[in-house]
Amino acid sequence: MTEQEGLLIQKAYNEVKKYKNKVINDPYRLKYHLMSPVGLLNDPNGLIQYKGVYHVFYQWNPFDTAHGAKFWGHYTSTDMVNWREEPIALAPSNWYERNGCYSGSAVASDEKLYLFYTGNVKQEDGTRETYQCLAVSSDGIHFEKHGPVLKLPEHYTPHFRDPKVWKEGNRWYMVVGAQTLDEKGAAVLFSSQDLYHWEELGKIAGSAMNGIGDFGYMWECPDLIHLNGKDILLVSPQGLEPSGHLYHNLFQSGYFVGELNYHSLDFQHGAFTELDRGFDFYAPQTFTDEQGRTILYGWMGITDETESYQPTIANHWVHALTIPRELELRDGKIYQKPVEELKKLRKDQQEYEGNHILLNGVSAELLLQLDGKAVPFQISFRNEATLFFEPDKKEISLQRRNVKTDAIETRTCKIDSVSKLQIFIDHSSLEIFINNGEEVFTSRYFPNLTNELISFDREAVCKLTKWNLG
Ligand code: FRU
Repeated sequence: MTEQEGLLIQKAYNEVKKYKNKVINDPYRLKYHLMSPVGLLNDPNGLIQYKGVYHVFYQWNPFDTAHGAKFWGHYTSTDMVNWREEPIALAPSNWYERNGCYSGSAVASDEKLYLFYTGNVKQEDGTRETYQCLAVSSDGIHFEKHGPVLKLPEHYTPHFRDPKVWKEGNRWYMVVGAQTLDEKGAAVLFSSQDLYHWEELGKIAGSAMNGIGDFGYMWECPDLIHLNGKDILLVSPQGLEPSGHLYHNLFQSGYFVGELNYHSLDFQHGAFTELDRGFDFYAPQTFTDEQGRTILYGWMGITDETESYQPTIANHWVHALTIPRELELRDGKIYQKPVEELKKLRKDQQEYEGNHILLNGVSAELLLQLDGKAVPFQISFRNEATLFFEPDKKEISLQRRNVKTDAIETRTCKIDSVSKLQIFIDHSSLEIFINNGEEVFTSRYFPNLTNELISFDREAVCKLTKWNLG
Protein backbone atom coordinates (compact mmCIF):
# COMPACT_ATOMS: atom_id res chain seq x y z
CA MET A 1 0.00 0.00 0.00
CA THR A 2 1.31 3.46 -0.88
CA GLU A 3 1.58 6.17 1.77
CA GLN A 4 -1.12 8.16 -0.03
CA GLU A 5 -3.49 5.19 0.08
CA GLY A 6 -2.78 4.58 3.77
CA LEU A 7 -3.59 8.20 4.61
CA LEU A 8 -6.81 8.15 2.63
CA ILE A 9 -7.94 4.95 4.32
CA GLN A 10 -7.09 6.38 7.75
CA LYS A 11 -9.13 9.47 6.93
CA ALA A 12 -12.10 7.26 6.04
CA TYR A 13 -11.83 5.33 9.32
CA ASN A 14 -11.72 8.62 11.23
CA GLU A 15 -15.00 9.54 9.58
CA VAL A 16 -16.51 6.19 10.57
CA LYS A 17 -15.45 6.72 14.17
CA LYS A 18 -16.65 10.31 14.29
CA TYR A 19 -20.24 9.50 13.32
CA LYS A 20 -20.56 5.92 14.59
CA ASN A 21 -22.99 6.72 17.41
CA LYS A 22 -25.22 8.85 15.27
CA VAL A 23 -25.33 6.23 12.53
CA ILE A 24 -26.08 3.20 14.69
CA ASN A 25 -28.70 5.00 16.75
CA ASP A 26 -30.68 6.19 13.75
CA PRO A 27 -34.14 4.56 14.09
CA TYR A 28 -34.22 4.22 10.29
CA ARG A 29 -30.98 2.19 10.30
CA LEU A 30 -31.78 -1.21 8.81
CA LYS A 31 -31.48 -4.41 10.78
CA TYR A 32 -30.63 -7.09 8.22
CA HIS A 33 -29.38 -5.19 5.18
CA LEU A 34 -25.85 -4.24 4.21
CA MET A 35 -25.11 -0.53 4.63
CA SER A 36 -21.96 1.56 4.77
CA PRO A 37 -20.73 2.45 8.28
CA VAL A 38 -20.99 6.14 7.36
CA GLY A 39 -21.55 8.23 4.22
CA LEU A 40 -23.10 7.12 0.94
CA LEU A 41 -23.34 3.58 -0.39
CA ASN A 42 -24.33 2.79 -3.95
CA ASP A 43 -23.73 -0.19 -6.25
CA PRO A 44 -22.92 -3.71 -5.07
CA ASN A 45 -19.51 -4.68 -6.51
CA GLY A 46 -17.22 -7.70 -6.75
CA LEU A 47 -19.82 -10.27 -5.67
CA ILE A 48 -18.25 -13.69 -5.33
CA GLN A 49 -18.04 -16.82 -3.22
CA TYR A 50 -14.29 -17.28 -2.87
CA LYS A 51 -12.84 -20.25 -0.96
CA GLY A 52 -16.28 -20.83 0.53
CA VAL A 53 -16.74 -17.26 1.79
CA TYR A 54 -19.26 -14.80 0.34
CA HIS A 55 -17.79 -11.40 -0.49
CA VAL A 56 -19.83 -8.28 -1.07
CA PHE A 57 -18.00 -5.08 -1.96
CA TYR A 58 -19.82 -1.82 -2.48
CA GLN A 59 -19.40 1.70 -3.85
CA TRP A 60 -18.74 3.96 -0.90
CA ASN A 61 -18.15 7.64 -0.28
CA PRO A 62 -17.09 7.76 3.37
CA PHE A 63 -16.75 11.55 3.47
CA ASP A 64 -20.19 12.70 2.43
CA THR A 65 -23.78 11.56 1.95
CA ALA A 66 -23.46 12.60 -1.70
CA HIS A 67 -21.59 11.01 -4.62
CA GLY A 68 -17.84 11.60 -4.90
CA ALA A 69 -14.53 9.75 -5.20
CA LYS A 70 -15.71 6.23 -4.40
CA PHE A 71 -13.95 3.62 -2.27
CA TRP A 72 -14.78 -0.09 -2.27
CA GLY A 73 -16.16 -1.10 1.13
CA HIS A 74 -16.13 -4.81 1.91
CA TYR A 75 -18.21 -7.37 3.84
CA THR A 76 -17.77 -11.15 4.13
CA SER A 77 -20.05 -13.93 5.28
CA THR A 78 -20.34 -17.70 5.28
CA ASP A 79 -24.13 -17.66 5.05
CA MET A 80 -25.25 -14.28 3.57
CA VAL A 81 -26.96 -13.60 6.92
CA ASN A 82 -24.16 -12.88 9.39
CA TRP A 83 -21.71 -10.36 7.97
CA ARG A 84 -18.29 -9.15 8.97
CA GLU A 85 -16.98 -5.74 8.09
CA GLU A 86 -13.58 -6.13 6.39
CA PRO A 87 -10.88 -3.52 5.85
CA ILE A 88 -11.45 -1.09 3.00
CA ALA A 89 -10.60 -2.96 -0.21
CA LEU A 90 -9.87 -0.08 -2.58
CA ALA A 91 -9.26 3.62 -2.00
CA PRO A 92 -8.98 6.14 -4.87
CA SER A 93 -5.32 6.97 -4.29
CA ASN A 94 -3.64 6.68 -7.71
CA TRP A 95 -3.66 8.98 -10.74
CA TYR A 96 -5.81 6.56 -12.75
CA GLU A 97 -8.62 6.41 -10.18
CA ARG A 98 -8.31 9.69 -8.36
CA ASN A 99 -12.00 10.57 -8.74
CA GLY A 100 -13.20 7.15 -7.75
CA CYS A 101 -12.69 3.42 -7.83
CA TYR A 102 -15.96 2.92 -9.68
CA SER A 103 -18.01 -0.25 -10.03
CA GLY A 104 -16.72 -3.62 -11.12
CA SER A 105 -16.63 -7.32 -10.41
CA ALA A 106 -14.58 -10.22 -9.03
CA VAL A 107 -13.33 -13.56 -10.32
CA ALA A 108 -11.18 -16.26 -8.78
CA SER A 109 -8.30 -17.88 -10.65
CA ASP A 110 -5.17 -19.77 -9.48
CA GLU A 111 -6.36 -19.45 -5.88
CA LYS A 112 -6.31 -15.65 -6.21
CA LEU A 113 -9.10 -13.11 -6.16
CA TYR A 114 -9.11 -10.59 -9.01
CA LEU A 115 -11.07 -7.34 -8.79
CA PHE A 116 -11.84 -5.43 -11.98
CA TYR A 117 -13.08 -1.88 -11.56
CA THR A 118 -13.22 1.46 -13.31
CA GLY A 119 -10.67 4.11 -12.48
CA ASN A 120 -12.57 7.37 -12.83
CA VAL A 121 -10.66 10.59 -13.53
CA LYS A 122 -12.11 14.06 -13.96
CA GLN A 123 -9.73 16.74 -15.16
CA GLU A 124 -9.92 20.35 -13.94
CA ASP A 125 -11.56 21.38 -17.21
CA GLY A 126 -14.34 18.83 -16.68
CA THR A 127 -13.10 16.23 -19.18
CA ARG A 128 -13.29 12.64 -18.07
CA GLU A 129 -10.91 9.72 -18.36
CA THR A 130 -11.72 6.10 -17.71
CA TYR A 131 -9.43 3.12 -17.05
CA GLN A 132 -10.48 -0.45 -16.44
CA CYS A 133 -8.21 -1.52 -13.57
CA LEU A 134 -7.17 -4.69 -11.80
CA ALA A 135 -6.37 -5.44 -8.15
CA VAL A 136 -5.31 -8.90 -6.98
CA SER A 137 -5.45 -10.63 -3.60
CA SER A 138 -4.25 -13.96 -2.24
CA ASP A 139 -6.35 -13.82 0.92
CA GLY A 140 -9.50 -12.05 -0.33
CA ILE A 141 -8.89 -9.20 2.10
CA HIS A 142 -5.74 -7.32 1.06
CA PHE A 143 -5.49 -6.15 -2.54
CA GLU A 144 -2.52 -5.20 -4.63
CA LYS A 145 -3.29 -2.76 -7.41
CA HIS A 146 -1.99 -3.48 -10.89
CA GLY A 147 -3.41 -0.32 -12.43
CA PRO A 148 -5.17 -0.07 -15.80
CA VAL A 149 -5.48 -3.20 -17.94
CA LEU A 150 -7.72 -1.58 -20.52
CA LYS A 151 -7.76 1.92 -21.97
CA LEU A 152 -10.77 3.57 -23.52
CA PRO A 153 -11.19 2.03 -27.01
CA GLU A 154 -12.07 4.12 -30.07
CA HIS A 155 -15.71 4.90 -30.86
CA TYR A 156 -16.82 5.50 -27.26
CA THR A 157 -17.03 8.53 -24.97
CA PRO A 158 -15.32 8.33 -21.55
CA HIS A 159 -18.68 7.15 -20.15
CA PHE A 160 -17.23 3.69 -20.29
CA ARG A 161 -17.27 1.72 -17.05
CA ASP A 162 -18.36 -1.12 -14.74
CA PRO A 163 -16.43 -4.18 -16.05
CA LYS A 164 -18.07 -7.53 -15.34
CA VAL A 165 -15.77 -10.51 -15.90
CA TRP A 166 -16.57 -14.23 -16.26
CA LYS A 167 -15.15 -17.39 -17.78
CA GLU A 168 -16.67 -19.18 -20.76
CA GLY A 169 -14.88 -22.28 -22.03
CA ASN A 170 -11.21 -21.58 -21.51
CA ARG A 171 -11.34 -17.81 -22.06
CA TRP A 172 -12.15 -14.86 -19.88
CA TYR A 173 -14.70 -12.32 -21.03
CA MET A 174 -15.45 -8.81 -19.84
CA VAL A 175 -18.51 -6.75 -20.63
CA VAL A 176 -18.31 -2.99 -20.10
CA GLY A 177 -21.08 -0.36 -19.99
CA ALA A 178 -20.58 2.28 -22.65
CA GLN A 179 -21.74 5.32 -24.54
CA THR A 180 -21.02 5.53 -28.27
CA LEU A 181 -19.78 8.78 -29.83
CA ASP A 182 -23.33 9.49 -31.02
CA GLU A 183 -24.49 9.08 -27.39
CA LYS A 184 -26.16 5.74 -27.46
CA GLY A 185 -25.90 3.26 -24.59
CA ALA A 186 -24.09 0.00 -25.36
CA ALA A 187 -22.53 -3.13 -23.85
CA VAL A 188 -19.04 -3.90 -25.19
CA LEU A 189 -17.34 -7.30 -25.02
CA PHE A 190 -13.62 -8.02 -24.46
CA SER A 191 -11.73 -11.26 -24.11
CA SER A 192 -8.53 -12.41 -22.43
CA GLN A 193 -6.51 -15.52 -21.82
CA ASP A 194 -4.68 -14.36 -18.69
CA LEU A 195 -6.86 -11.61 -17.12
CA TYR A 196 -4.10 -9.04 -17.76
CA HIS A 197 -4.26 -8.58 -21.55
CA TRP A 198 -7.61 -7.76 -23.08
CA GLU A 199 -8.72 -7.74 -26.68
CA GLU A 200 -11.74 -5.78 -27.88
CA LEU A 201 -14.37 -7.97 -29.55
CA GLY A 202 -17.08 -5.37 -30.05
CA LYS A 203 -20.58 -4.28 -29.12
CA ILE A 204 -22.99 -7.07 -28.30
CA ALA A 205 -26.06 -4.93 -27.58
CA GLY A 206 -27.07 -1.32 -27.32
CA SER A 207 -29.53 1.39 -28.12
CA ALA A 208 -30.73 1.01 -31.74
CA MET A 209 -29.14 -2.45 -32.03
CA ASN A 210 -30.62 -5.94 -32.30
CA GLY A 211 -34.04 -4.51 -33.15
CA ILE A 212 -34.72 -2.60 -29.93
CA GLY A 213 -34.90 1.01 -31.22
CA ASP A 214 -33.60 3.97 -29.24
CA PHE A 215 -32.80 2.77 -25.77
CA GLY A 216 -30.96 5.36 -23.72
CA TYR A 217 -27.81 7.45 -23.89
CA MET A 218 -25.70 5.33 -21.52
CA TRP A 219 -25.77 1.74 -20.29
CA GLU A 220 -24.32 1.20 -16.82
CA CYS A 221 -23.45 -1.98 -14.95
CA PRO A 222 -23.87 -4.69 -17.62
CA ASP A 223 -23.81 -8.31 -16.48
CA LEU A 224 -24.04 -11.35 -18.76
CA ILE A 225 -25.41 -14.50 -17.17
CA HIS A 226 -26.58 -17.94 -18.19
CA LEU A 227 -29.88 -19.33 -16.96
CA ASN A 228 -31.68 -22.33 -18.40
CA GLY A 229 -29.55 -22.43 -21.54
CA LYS A 230 -30.12 -18.74 -22.32
CA ASP A 231 -27.72 -15.79 -22.31
CA ILE A 232 -29.18 -12.91 -20.37
CA LEU A 233 -27.79 -9.41 -20.42
CA LEU A 234 -28.62 -7.42 -17.31
CA VAL A 235 -28.08 -3.72 -17.74
CA SER A 236 -28.98 -0.35 -16.22
CA PRO A 237 -29.85 1.99 -19.10
CA GLN A 238 -30.07 5.74 -18.61
CA GLY A 239 -32.33 7.97 -20.70
CA LEU A 240 -35.52 5.91 -21.15
CA GLU A 241 -38.71 7.96 -21.27
CA PRO A 242 -41.68 6.83 -19.12
CA SER A 243 -44.09 4.71 -21.14
CA GLY A 244 -47.41 3.60 -19.61
CA HIS A 245 -46.51 2.08 -16.24
CA LEU A 246 -42.90 1.55 -17.25
CA TYR A 247 -39.72 3.54 -16.62
CA HIS A 248 -40.97 6.03 -14.03
CA ASN A 249 -37.79 6.01 -12.00
CA LEU A 250 -35.06 8.27 -13.35
CA PHE A 251 -32.98 5.23 -14.41
CA GLN A 252 -33.91 1.58 -14.93
CA SER A 253 -32.43 -1.88 -14.41
CA GLY A 254 -33.56 -4.85 -16.40
CA TYR A 255 -32.59 -7.58 -18.83
CA PHE A 256 -32.67 -9.01 -22.33
CA VAL A 257 -33.00 -12.79 -22.83
CA GLY A 258 -31.41 -14.32 -25.89
CA GLU A 259 -28.54 -16.28 -27.33
CA LEU A 260 -25.08 -14.83 -27.77
CA ASN A 261 -22.71 -16.19 -30.37
CA TYR A 262 -19.28 -15.50 -28.83
CA HIS A 263 -17.60 -15.71 -32.27
CA SER A 264 -19.82 -13.61 -34.51
CA LEU A 265 -21.07 -11.49 -31.52
CA ASP A 266 -24.55 -11.96 -32.88
CA PHE A 267 -26.94 -11.57 -29.94
CA GLN A 268 -30.54 -12.31 -30.83
CA HIS A 269 -32.55 -11.13 -27.87
CA GLY A 270 -36.07 -10.15 -26.91
CA ALA A 271 -37.49 -7.03 -25.30
CA PHE A 272 -36.23 -5.35 -22.13
CA THR A 273 -37.91 -6.38 -18.88
CA GLU A 274 -37.49 -4.38 -15.69
CA LEU A 275 -36.17 -6.42 -12.78
CA ASP A 276 -37.98 -4.47 -10.11
CA ARG A 277 -41.16 -2.35 -10.02
CA GLY A 278 -40.43 -0.30 -6.90
CA PHE A 279 -38.90 3.13 -6.35
CA ASP A 280 -35.42 2.18 -5.16
CA PHE A 281 -33.56 -0.37 -7.19
CA TYR A 282 -30.56 0.15 -9.44
CA ALA A 283 -27.21 -1.22 -10.62
CA PRO A 284 -27.76 -4.88 -9.64
CA GLN A 285 -24.99 -7.44 -10.00
CA THR A 286 -25.05 -11.23 -9.92
CA PHE A 287 -22.64 -14.05 -9.10
CA THR A 288 -22.81 -17.83 -9.23
CA ASP A 289 -22.14 -19.42 -5.86
CA GLU A 290 -20.54 -22.81 -5.14
CA GLN A 291 -23.97 -24.47 -5.18
CA GLY A 292 -24.49 -23.13 -8.71
CA ARG A 293 -27.12 -20.60 -7.71
CA THR A 294 -27.25 -17.27 -9.54
CA ILE A 295 -27.63 -14.67 -6.82
CA LEU A 296 -28.36 -10.99 -7.26
CA TYR A 297 -27.82 -7.98 -5.05
CA GLY A 298 -29.09 -4.56 -6.07
CA TRP A 299 -28.52 -1.09 -4.78
CA MET A 300 -31.68 -0.20 -2.81
CA GLY A 301 -31.40 3.35 -4.04
CA ILE A 302 -30.97 5.41 -7.15
CA THR A 303 -29.25 8.64 -8.14
CA ASP A 304 -32.01 11.17 -8.61
CA GLU A 305 -33.10 14.60 -7.36
CA THR A 306 -34.75 13.17 -4.22
CA GLU A 307 -31.70 11.27 -2.98
CA SER A 308 -30.34 14.19 -0.94
CA TYR A 309 -33.66 14.53 0.93
CA GLN A 310 -33.52 11.15 2.66
CA PRO A 311 -33.90 11.68 6.41
CA THR A 312 -30.95 9.42 7.33
CA ILE A 313 -28.62 12.08 5.92
CA ALA A 314 -29.08 14.00 9.19
CA ASN A 315 -27.25 11.04 10.77
CA HIS A 316 -24.47 10.92 8.16
CA TRP A 317 -25.44 7.83 6.19
CA VAL A 318 -27.62 7.05 3.18
CA HIS A 319 -28.73 3.95 1.20
CA ALA A 320 -28.42 0.17 1.54
CA LEU A 321 -28.17 -2.96 -0.56
CA THR A 322 -31.17 -5.22 -1.20
CA ILE A 323 -31.43 -8.67 0.34
CA PRO A 324 -29.85 -11.37 -1.87
CA ARG A 325 -32.20 -12.94 -4.41
CA GLU A 326 -31.79 -16.21 -6.26
CA LEU A 327 -32.63 -15.94 -9.97
CA GLU A 328 -34.44 -18.47 -12.12
CA LEU A 329 -35.59 -18.24 -15.72
CA ARG A 330 -39.13 -19.52 -16.33
CA ASP A 331 -40.92 -19.09 -19.66
CA GLY A 332 -38.48 -16.39 -20.69
CA LYS A 333 -38.93 -14.38 -17.48
CA ILE A 334 -36.59 -13.99 -14.53
CA TYR A 335 -38.11 -14.98 -11.20
CA GLN A 336 -36.39 -13.66 -8.09
CA LYS A 337 -36.73 -15.26 -4.70
CA PRO A 338 -35.05 -14.35 -1.42
CA VAL A 339 -32.23 -16.83 -0.75
CA GLU A 340 -33.12 -19.74 1.56
CA GLU A 341 -30.54 -18.66 4.13
CA LEU A 342 -32.68 -15.66 5.08
CA LYS A 343 -34.98 -18.08 6.93
CA LYS A 344 -32.30 -18.06 9.64
CA LEU A 345 -33.41 -14.55 10.53
CA ARG A 346 -36.93 -15.71 11.41
CA LYS A 347 -38.17 -15.71 15.01
CA ASP A 348 -41.46 -15.33 16.94
CA GLN A 349 -43.64 -16.97 14.30
CA GLN A 350 -47.28 -15.85 14.45
CA GLU A 351 -50.31 -16.88 12.42
CA TYR A 352 -53.22 -14.68 11.47
CA GLU A 353 -56.41 -15.35 9.55
CA GLY A 354 -59.19 -13.09 8.38
CA ASN A 355 -60.04 -10.38 5.93
CA HIS A 356 -58.96 -7.53 8.17
CA ILE A 357 -55.64 -8.30 9.87
CA LEU A 358 -53.68 -5.92 12.08
CA LEU A 359 -50.14 -6.51 13.27
CA ASN A 360 -47.02 -4.67 14.33
CA GLY A 361 -43.90 -4.83 12.21
CA VAL A 362 -40.73 -2.77 11.94
CA SER A 363 -38.37 -5.58 11.01
CA ALA A 364 -40.39 -8.56 9.88
CA GLU A 365 -41.21 -11.03 7.15
CA LEU A 366 -44.80 -11.59 6.09
CA LEU A 367 -45.98 -14.56 4.07
CA LEU A 368 -49.47 -14.47 2.62
CA GLN A 369 -51.09 -17.34 0.76
CA LEU A 370 -54.03 -16.05 -1.23
CA ASP A 371 -56.61 -18.32 -2.81
CA GLY A 372 -57.25 -17.90 -6.50
CA LYS A 373 -60.17 -15.51 -5.97
CA ALA A 374 -59.69 -12.37 -8.00
CA VAL A 375 -60.62 -9.96 -5.22
CA PRO A 376 -58.93 -6.67 -4.38
CA PHE A 377 -56.65 -6.31 -1.39
CA GLN A 378 -54.73 -3.54 0.27
CA ILE A 379 -51.82 -3.55 2.72
CA SER A 380 -50.90 -0.39 4.56
CA PHE A 381 -47.38 -0.24 5.98
CA ARG A 382 -47.23 2.02 9.03
CA ASN A 383 -49.53 4.48 7.27
CA GLU A 384 -46.66 5.50 5.01
CA ALA A 385 -46.74 3.07 2.08
CA THR A 386 -49.57 1.04 0.57
CA LEU A 387 -49.63 -1.98 -1.70
CA PHE A 388 -52.91 -2.64 -3.53
CA PHE A 389 -54.17 -5.11 -6.09
CA GLU A 390 -56.90 -4.24 -8.60
CA PRO A 391 -58.02 -7.50 -10.23
CA ASP A 392 -60.33 -5.82 -12.74
CA LYS A 393 -57.39 -3.88 -14.14
CA LYS A 394 -54.95 -6.74 -13.50
CA GLU A 395 -52.61 -4.29 -11.79
CA ILE A 396 -50.66 -4.17 -8.58
CA SER A 397 -49.36 -0.87 -7.22
CA LEU A 398 -47.17 0.49 -4.47
CA GLN A 399 -47.61 4.00 -3.11
CA ARG A 400 -45.42 5.98 -0.77
CA ARG A 401 -44.62 9.57 0.08
CA ASN A 402 -41.91 11.32 -1.91
CA VAL A 403 -39.15 12.48 0.46
CA LYS A 404 -38.59 15.68 -1.47
CA THR A 405 -42.11 16.85 -2.35
CA ASP A 406 -44.20 15.00 0.27
CA ALA A 407 -46.59 14.06 -2.54
CA ILE A 408 -47.93 10.50 -2.81
CA GLU A 409 -46.28 8.66 -5.69
CA THR A 410 -47.22 5.33 -7.28
CA ARG A 411 -45.52 2.53 -9.18
CA THR A 412 -47.69 -0.02 -10.94
CA CYS A 413 -47.21 -3.21 -12.89
CA LYS A 414 -49.44 -5.62 -14.76
CA ILE A 415 -50.16 -8.96 -13.13
CA ASP A 416 -52.84 -11.55 -13.93
CA SER A 417 -53.45 -12.73 -10.39
CA VAL A 418 -51.80 -12.71 -6.99
CA SER A 419 -51.51 -16.03 -5.18
CA LYS A 420 -48.59 -15.41 -2.85
CA LEU A 421 -46.88 -12.45 -1.24
CA GLN A 422 -43.60 -12.58 0.64
CA ILE A 423 -42.73 -9.23 2.16
CA PHE A 424 -39.49 -8.21 3.86
CA ILE A 425 -39.97 -5.18 6.07
CA ASP A 426 -37.05 -3.41 7.67
CA HIS A 427 -36.96 -0.15 9.64
CA SER A 428 -37.11 1.95 6.48
CA SER A 429 -37.42 -0.52 3.60
CA LEU A 430 -39.89 -2.83 1.88
CA GLU A 431 -39.10 -5.71 -0.49
CA ILE A 432 -42.26 -7.29 -1.82
CA PHE A 433 -42.04 -10.57 -3.75
CA ILE A 434 -45.20 -11.46 -5.67
CA ASN A 435 -46.04 -15.01 -6.83
CA ASN A 436 -42.64 -16.51 -5.94
CA GLY A 437 -40.75 -13.61 -7.44
CA GLU A 438 -42.65 -13.10 -10.68
CA GLU A 439 -42.56 -9.40 -9.78
CA VAL A 440 -40.70 -7.52 -7.05
CA PHE A 441 -41.24 -4.06 -5.60
CA THR A 442 -38.25 -2.64 -3.68
CA SER A 443 -38.52 0.67 -1.89
CA ARG A 444 -37.31 2.73 1.00
CA TYR A 445 -39.94 4.44 3.13
CA PHE A 446 -39.66 6.59 6.22
CA PRO A 447 -42.67 6.04 8.47
CA ASN A 448 -43.58 7.96 11.58
CA LEU A 449 -41.59 6.21 14.31
CA THR A 450 -44.54 5.94 16.67
CA ASN A 451 -46.60 4.00 14.13
CA GLU A 452 -45.73 0.30 13.84
CA LEU A 453 -49.07 -0.85 12.53
CA ILE A 454 -49.46 -2.91 9.40
CA SER A 455 -52.97 -3.58 8.19
CA PHE A 456 -54.21 -6.03 5.60
CA ASP A 457 -57.65 -5.81 4.05
CA ARG A 458 -59.15 -8.14 1.49
CA GLU A 459 -62.64 -9.02 0.40
CA ALA A 460 -61.94 -12.69 1.15
CA VAL A 461 -60.37 -14.46 4.10
CA CYS A 462 -56.67 -15.13 3.94
CA LYS A 463 -53.88 -16.61 6.00
CA LEU A 464 -50.83 -14.65 7.00
CA THR A 465 -47.67 -15.77 8.77
CA LYS A 466 -45.38 -13.24 10.35
CA TRP A 467 -41.88 -13.58 11.71
CA ASN A 468 -39.86 -10.88 13.37
CA LEU A 469 -36.44 -10.70 11.75
CA GLY A 470 -33.18 -9.89 13.37
C1 FRU B 1 -24.15 3.27 -11.12
C2 FRU B 1 -22.84 4.03 -11.25
C3 FRU B 1 -21.82 3.25 -12.06
C4 FRU B 1 -20.51 3.80 -11.55
C5 FRU B 1 -20.82 3.99 -10.09
C6 FRU B 1 -20.09 5.16 -9.46
O1 FRU B 1 -24.88 3.68 -10.01
O2 FRU B 1 -23.05 5.30 -11.81
O3 FRU B 1 -21.97 3.37 -13.45
O4 FRU B 1 -19.45 2.93 -11.74
O5 FRU B 1 -22.20 4.20 -9.99
O6 FRU B 1 -20.29 5.17 -8.08
